[in-house]
Amino acid sequence: MALKRVRVWLMLISMFISLQGWRMEGCLKQERSALLQLKHFFNNPNRLQNWVEGYENSDCCYWESVYCDFITRRVSGLDLGSTRNQELGEWYLNVSLFSPFQEIQRLNLSYNLIAGCVENEGFERLSHLNNFVALDLSDNMFNDSCILPVIIITIIIGLISVLGLSNLEHLSLRGNMFNNSILSYVSTLSLLKQLDLTDIGLKDTVDLQELDSLRHLQRLSMGGNEIKRIVISKGETSLRNLIGLYLSNMSISNGMSLLQTLGLFPSLKYVVFRYNNFSGVVNTYGKLQQY
Ligand SMILES: *[C@@H]1O[C@H](CO)[C@@H](O)[C@H](O)[C@H]1NC(C)=O
Ligand SMILES: *[C@@H]1O[C@H](CO)[C@@H](O)[C@H](O)[C@H]1NC(C)=O
Repeated sequence: MALKRVRVWLMLISMFISLQGWRMEGCLKQERSALLQLKHFFNNPNRLQNWVEGYENSDCCYWESVYCDFITRRVSGLDLGSTRNQELGEWYLNVSLFSPFQEIQRLNLSYNLIAGCVENEGFERLSHLNNFVALDLSDNMFNDSCILPVIIITIIIGLISVLGLSNLEHLSLRGNMFNNSILSYVSTLSLLKQLDLTDIGLKDTVDLQELDSLRHLQRLSMGGNEIKRIVISKGETSLRNLIGLYLSNMSISNGMSLLQTLGLFPSLKYVVFRYNNFSGVVNTYGKLQQY
């Protein structure tokens, strides 16, 4: 009996030691050197100061703005918002720099003066990252140069859905320099739940039918664009899970008829419609709380 207990203790102790040893190794070497490469570009002198290799600092899971999976110790998130030295002006991103992070789920590149991507190094380079669910590109100067190659892949490989970023659930393109053609790209991201297209250069008429394949979409923001009309051309929609629609700061001329079609969205709870130039009374059947 006593012997058995000793054996159990020995086993626990050796497990503990090996666990410690494994933990001391810290994050994966490839990921650590990929982070150090990124630091050349995300070089705001006040940020990422502990991104340096050295004894007792080799576990990059403890580095600023780096998140790791608790079990695998692989990088699961990078919060690189506002980490560029703004004095250096605009620059072009090589998205391949992120491809070593095979298990990354969230990436924030917001507010870094990124003007686009290095040629052939756009977001299609991350199409092998199956866990990638959230991407925040807001407040940069991104345009089609990072996104277009994905459209080409989409057309060729079509429905087998190996296209870039196909698992994204949250995407913010807010405050960039796209145009209406971005809609056909985002419509291929069929798992999206939240999509922020605020102030991205959309113009004239937008047909929500273009986003009809986004059946999981819950929140859609489109304010701050030069959209004049928002229509639902077929008079029906598959956006059955849409809860919030944010359409402030525009000069929509067909606002009243749009409001009358909102009944097509069975889950809709919030419509934010501030600073538009139309007025009128809408029967919301007690469903809409704000408009
Ligand atoms: C991304 O970073 C910016 C700037 O630091 C921050 O304001 C924003 O909330 C972050 N986005 C997400 C999705 O956390
Ligand atoms: C982009 O980064 C990858 C990975 O570091 C590198 O192999 C490639 O040469 C870079 N591409 C350009 C055009 O700099």
